[in-house]
Amino acid sequence: MTTAGLRNPLALAALVLATAGLGAVPAARAQDRAACEKLYAPSVGQSGKDVIWVPTPDELVTRMLEMARTTSADYVVDLGAGDGKIPIAAARQFGARAKGIEYNPDMVKLAQCLAKAAGVAERARIVQGDIFKEDFRSATVVTMYLLPELNIRLRPTLLEMRPGTRVVSHAFDMDEWQADEEQTVDGRTAYLWIVPARVGGRWEVAENGGEPRTLTLNQQFQQVTGSLQVRKGVSRPLKDVQLRGDELRFAYDDERGRRQRATVKVQGDALSGSVGGVGPGRTRALAGRRLGAAPPVYTPAAAPAQASL
Ligand SMILES: C[S@@+](CC[C@H](N)C(=O)[O-])C[C@H]1O[C@@H](n2cnc3c(N)ncnc32)[C@H](O)[C@@H]1O
Repeated sequence: MTTAGLRNPLALAALVLATAGLGAVPAARAQDRAACEKLYAPSVGQSGKDVIWVPTPDELVTRMLEMARTTSADYVVDLGAGDGKIPIAAARQFGARAKGIEYNPDMVKLAQCLAKAAGVAERARIVQGDIFKEDFRSATVVTMYLLPELNIRLRPTLLEMRPGTRVVSHAFDMDEWQADEEQTVDGRTAYLWIVPARVGGRWEVAENGGEPRTLTLNQQFQQVTGSLQVRKGVSRPLKDVQLRGDELRFAYDDERGRRQRATVKVQGDALSGSVGGVGPGRTRALAGRRLGAAPPVYTPAAAPAQASL
């Protein structure tokens, strides 16, 4: 939401509604908010270091945290926390531990006051800092309402986080890293991504400790294709491949054309789980290890060839 961003009808609508007091209802009782605003009273649309302040409406805050399946076991970090409403909601409504990183020190004071008024100052900490310098890798849920180019700058850091970390963004996507889920509330969209494990490369796998076979996996973010050797010199393509965090599921047809389904957990260069055909009593253990280094989680598309004279 630079000045140009405010030409975006959604951003403009948010600003008008919030200014009129109809939308973006603050996640605090009116008297608490009034008391805290004696410290600092921000205006919607005011400039910020990399993006202006426009609060996410309460209903969408709740929806974003629901999409991330936030629980009391989570550590939620909001990047560019504004008045702290996302960390406060994460602590108050979901019992999570939370942190908000906000660059503007006056906003930080306001957010801290609101967290205290909500009775969650211990669990929802608001810190002054730059989202591009602070270390938030221990988060299990990351939330943000930034700008497309800031999302893309953060993307490599997010993809290095623990597999299974949930990332939720209000309004803006991550370009070719497609969202795992998106939901719209009152015309505003929230996107959810689940950080995928690095699964690419050649793996040596075996069923019930039997003969090793080669599993080849090609990865672009959470999209995976590949093949499994079913006997010497014969490989079959993987079907219905799904990667969610560290859990990989795929199917293939065995030597006799019978559909087999596997579910494995990937941890570093090891995988383990089970595989079986249709029907009871046919599940075998499946385990393996990666041969060689893990490739990157995605390979950027090749730049178009330069025209030459
Ligand atoms: C659009 S607001 C979102 C506020 C809050 N996350 C929400 O959804 O209600 C973005 C916030 O990011 C802050 N901000 C901008 N650049 C930042 C940076 N580099 N580091 C930390 N905060 C930043 C702004 O001051 C502003 O409060």
